[in-house]
Amino acid sequence: MVNAQTGLEGPRDDLTVIDNRTGKTYIVPIKDNTVAAIDFKKIKAPSKPGERKENETERGLRVADKGFLNTAVITSEITYIDGDNGVLRYRGYPIEELALHSNFLEVAYLLIYGSLPSRPNFKVFQREVMTHSIVHVDAEGLFKSFRYDAHPMAILSSAFSALGSFYEEANPSLRGQNLFTKSDPASLANMDKQIYRIIGKATTFAAMAYRVRQGRPFVTPPTGLSYTASFLYQMDHLGQEDYVPSPTLAKALDILFILHADHELNASSTTVLQTGSSLVDPYSCMAAGIASLYGPLHGGANEAVIRMLISIGHPENVPAFLESVKKRERVLSGFGHRVYKTSDPRSFIIRKIADEVFKETGEDELLKTAMVLHDLAMKDEYFTSRKLAPNVDFWSGLIYRAMGFPMDFFPVLFVVPRVVGWLAHWRQMMLQPGGVKIWRPRQVYVGETKRDYVPMEQRVDVETEEAKTRPFAVPHLGQSKRTMLAKFKGKSRL
Ligand SMILES: CC(C)(COP(=O)(O)OP(=O)(O)OC[C@H]1O[C@@H](n2cnc3c(N)ncnc32)[C@H](O)[C@@H]1OP(=O)(O)O)[C@@H](O)C(=O)NCCC(=O)NCCS
Repeated sequence: MVNAQTGLEGPRDDLTVIDNRTGKTYIVPIKDNTVAAIDFKKIKAPSKPGERKENETERGLRVADKGFLNTAVITSEITYIDGDNGVLRYRGYPIEELALHSNFLEVAYLLIYGSLPSRPNFKVFQREVMTHSIVHVDAEGLFKSFRYDAHPMAILSSAFSALGSFYEEANPSLRGQNLFTKSDPASLANMDKQIYRIIGKATTFAAMAYRVRQGRPFVTPPTGLSYTASFLYQMDHLGQEDYVPSPTLAKALDILFILHADHELNASSTTVLQTGSSLVDPYSCMAAGIASLYGPLHGGANEAVIRMLISIGHPENVPAFLESVKKRERVLSGFGHRVYKTSDPRSFIIRKIADEVFKETGEDELLKTAMVLHDLAMKDEYFTSRKLAPNVDFWSGLIYRAMGFPMDFFPVLFVVPRVVGWLAHWRQMMLQPGGVKIWRPRQVYVGETKRDYVPMEQRVDVETEEAKTRPFAVPHLGQSKRTMLAKFKGKSRL
C-alpha cells in the first residue's frame, strides 16, 4: 500500500476520527508516533440542550491528562528511557558504559552540549565549572540566617533563588526577554556562564547548607581536586594540613552523580521547564526544580527506604513485613517505578558501588536486612506479577548512610547532580526552533456556574457542611493561658 501523504510504501501515518455527535470525519496526523492535542481542538460540536456553558463544547474538544500519564510536552534529544526493557541512555550512550568509563563532569558536558567532549573542550568546561564554585561572600549571610535545624533543601532552594539576584546580566526581566533565546555567540556565552556558575556552586551551596547546621565555618572550594572530591573537601575539611578526601568515596559519589544527572521528564525537570517557559532567569528555574524534588514522592524515596529498613529491624522480620505489604498495610519503598517495569538499570550499578564503599566504610547494619528483603521480594509472585523490581533508591540510601551523610541530606545529594539535567533541558528549550511558548495547560472546569452575590446577613451557615469547605480555628502556640485569661478592650478571649 502506498501512503497517500508521504508517497512511500507502508500504512498511512494518521488517524481517522469520526465525531459521532456531528457525523464529521477528521484526519489527525501522526508524527513520531505522536498525535498533537491541538488537532483535537478542531473537533467542535453544538452544545447539547441544558449543557453547562463551561464545557465550551462549541470551542473544540479538550484533551485531559491528569498527572501527565501520556502527554509529551517537548521534543527532546537528551535522554531516552525504555522502561519495559530497563534501558537508560544519555544522548544515545548506555548509562552502564558512562558509569564504567566516564566521569560526572564529562557526562554533564554530554548532557548539555550533546556529544562527548574533545580534550581541549573538556578542559575549558572543567576549568570554568570549577572556578565558578566560589560564592560571593555576601551569600554567606543568607545561609547563616536559617535556624540551626532548617531542612537543607529549604536552604538550598532559597540559596539558588537568592543567587539570581547577584547577576543582573542573567535576568531576562532586566535585560530583555530574548536574553537566552537568541542563539547568537554573545547570548550562548552568557548562557554558558550561568551554566558554569550553577554547576560550580551546586556543591558549594550543598556543603554550606551542611556546615551551617553544625556551626562549622564555610570552606573556600579547593583547587586541583575532582568535582566530587572538592565537594567532600568542602563538606568535611576542618583546617587539617593536606586534607585529601577518600578517593574511593569520591569515585563512588562521582558514579552516583552520573546515575542521577538526568532522567528525562520527571516532576522536577518538568517544573524547571514549566518555570522557564515564562522566560524567568535560570536561577529561579533551579529553585523551582529543587522545590519539586523536595517532595517525598520524588526526592524522598531513598530516605523512606532507610526508615523502612530501620522499622523492619532484623532479617528474620522480613517475611512478616512482606506479608503486610501484600495486605496493603505497608509499601515496599525502593521497589516499583512509573516508567521501569523491570529492574531499574541504575540499581545494578549502584549495587556494585555499594560493595566498593562498604569495603572502605564497613557494612551498614541494615544491609543484611536489605539483601534478604530484595531476594525474597524478587522471588515472590505478588511482586513479580506486578513487575515490581528495585529502583535506584533501594540501594542509594544505604550507600549515603554508610558514607555518613544525615538522612535529610539525601535529597541534596540528588539535587547536586540533577542541576545538570535541569540545565540541559532548560538550554534545549531556550534554543529550540520557533522560540519558547509559555506553558499554559487547560483545565476541565466543573465548579459552580454563574451565580449572584449574597449579602452576609442572608447567608445560611450549614452545620453539616463538609469540613474542607470552611476554615478551622487553630491553636495559637505562642499564646499562654495567662494571655487567654487577659482582657482586650474590656473583652475576654475565652
Ligand atoms: C514508584 C511508584 C510511585 C510507581 O507507581 P505507579 O506507576 O503509579 O504504579 P502503581 O501504583 O499503578 O502500581 C501497580 C501495582 O503495584 C503495586 N505497587 C506498586 N509499587 C509498590 C510498592 N513499592 N510496594 C507494594 N506494592 C506496590 C500497586 O499497589 C499496584 O497494585 P494493584 O495493581 O494490585 O493495585 C510506586 O511503585 C511506589 O510507590 N514505589 C515505592 C516508592 C519508591 O520507591 N519511589 C521511588 C521511585 S524512583
